[in-house]
Amino acid sequence: MKISRRTMLAASAAAPAVLAAGPAKAATASIKLHSQRHRGAIDRKLFGNFIEHLGRCIEGGVFDEGSPLSDKEGFRQDVLKAVKDMNVPFLRWPGGNFSSNYNWRDGIGPRDARPARLEMAWGTVESNRFGTHEFMDYVQQVGAEPYICLNLGTGSWSEAQQWVEYVNGNENTAVVKERRKNGRDQPWGVKYWGLGNEMDGYWQMGHRSAEDYGKYALEAAKLVKLTDPSTKLIAAGASNFRPGSDWIAWNRTVLDYLKDYADYISLHLYVGNAANDFADFVASPIEMDQKIDILAGLISAAMSGRRDRLTGAVQTDGKQMYIAFDEWNVWYRARGDGQKGRRILEEHYNLEDMLVVAGFLNSLINHADVVKIANLAQLVNVIAPIFTNEKGLYLQTIYYPLQLFSNNVKGNSLTVLSEGPTYKSARFPVVPYIDSSASLDGHALVVNIVNRHQTEAMDVTIALEDKRFAGAATVSEVNGPDIKAMNDFNSNPVTAKNRSQAASGNSLTLRVAAHSYTQLRVMLA
Ligand code: AHR
Repeated sequence: MKISRRTMLAASAAAPAVLAAGPAKAATASIKLHSQRHRGAIDRKLFGNFIEHLGRCIEGGVFDEGSPLSDKEGFRQDVLKAVKDMNVPFLRWPGGNFSSNYNWRDGIGPRDARPARLEMAWGTVESNRFGTHEFMDYVQQVGAEPYICLNLGTGSWSEAQQWVEYVNGNENTAVVKERRKNGRDQPWGVKYWGLGNEMDGYWQMGHRSAEDYGKYALEAAKLVKLTDPSTKLIAAGASNFRPGSDWIAWNRTVLDYLKDYADYISLHLYVGNAANDFADFVASPIEMDQKIDILAGLISAAMSGRRDRLTGAVQTDGKQMYIAFDEWNVWYRARGDGQKGRRILEEHYNLEDMLVVAGFLNSLINHADVVKIANLAQLVNVIAPIFTNEKGLYLQTIYYPLQLFSNNVKGNSLTVLSEGPTYKSARFPVVPYIDSSASLDGHALVVNIVNRHQTEAMDVTIALEDKRFAGAATVSEVNGPDIKAMNDFNSNPVTAKNRSQAASGNSLTLRVAAHSYTQLRVMLA
């Protein structure tokens, strides 16, 4: 089992494994930061999200024609406000598994004339009333950058190519004329395109072997880049990362085929607490660390061997590939084979789920040099931070860390040197109680801290090696009465609460409550 850099640092600390009891005397941990010791720029796309034609994510979620809460286009205005408040910068669509049998042509033209089709990924009928134009209108209203996943399951190369031409083309071709006839004169210029979804999965319509997918996706990638060389392509990495699965072999093969054309390779991760083991569940972000570290190594290996296809000379064009973590979340209750229909994948999140989501965000920030895209799955109702009914919505526990990270974490990802007590969990030999990340944007420092201890607070000292605090810090704490606390339409026991914390000199000590996620924001001099 691989131990991440963060885990190793914590493991080397000579700190007690058992915490002192009582609020007066908490155990201690420390975080050391230096403004020049960082892992590079944090890409805003790390705070991306995802809408799929699945359950009530699109229909009944972002899009609810005829609802008094929707505008005349059908966009739910209360949902749109919650999405904007969460500051979603990047949005993936139309799936997921749905994308692998989606014909984009069904979703253009007058809404009432669009064909209803059997939707086989999730066992419903797809009305096609939300298609390319609706998605592009929606991302514009959200203020997000679009990311479209092509159908490389049942779809043909020319269908994929023509979708890119329809969206991005500016020549007077038949496809572009069709777009103009449908009311959009100028190309949208969508940059990010996925080369299929979870093509390694037996459940995927059009599932292929790694070799077959690699060859198929390579030709699709060539056509997309010939249509619009400014596009950025995301290859479908292995989704099925479980002990004994051949996910490394899949990724090696896919990287080998696509390293000259793809700009990213995808990773997916869903975790759960079916065993009701809090200590092990909240350590799940270590699994994300491990997946990222392994895939980053595979990318480095593939890129170092790139050769010119004509001359055989080692490539010196400096092309890079990054990880797109384009599906991640807690998902286990509303799960199981054969889920069909409208009210599916509707997870109700509790406080411990929120801690895992905050820890995943820490992991993404701590790998900001190799992960440049991430999309929480998904935005509304379906394993989502926003939950609706016909009368309104409520914000789930996981909404708060997503909102705090996206609104405040910017600039460079600082390397966090942390020390503190650790524990052993069912899956991981060494788990730090304190999990953290930090960012510095000019003079604005943000530190994110998850306290994985179920019952004890911790005093965390944040020490600056080359800077000083320029004034008091703002602290937002997301917590609730107990680890199973949930929000719903009538009560919201888990929210973010703000307080002020004195800060001067080059060190401050922050008490973080048991089972909490805390974000500290402060200016440096
Ligand atoms: O996000 C739910 C589903 O999980 C997606 O459709 C699929 O890609 C993954 O298996």
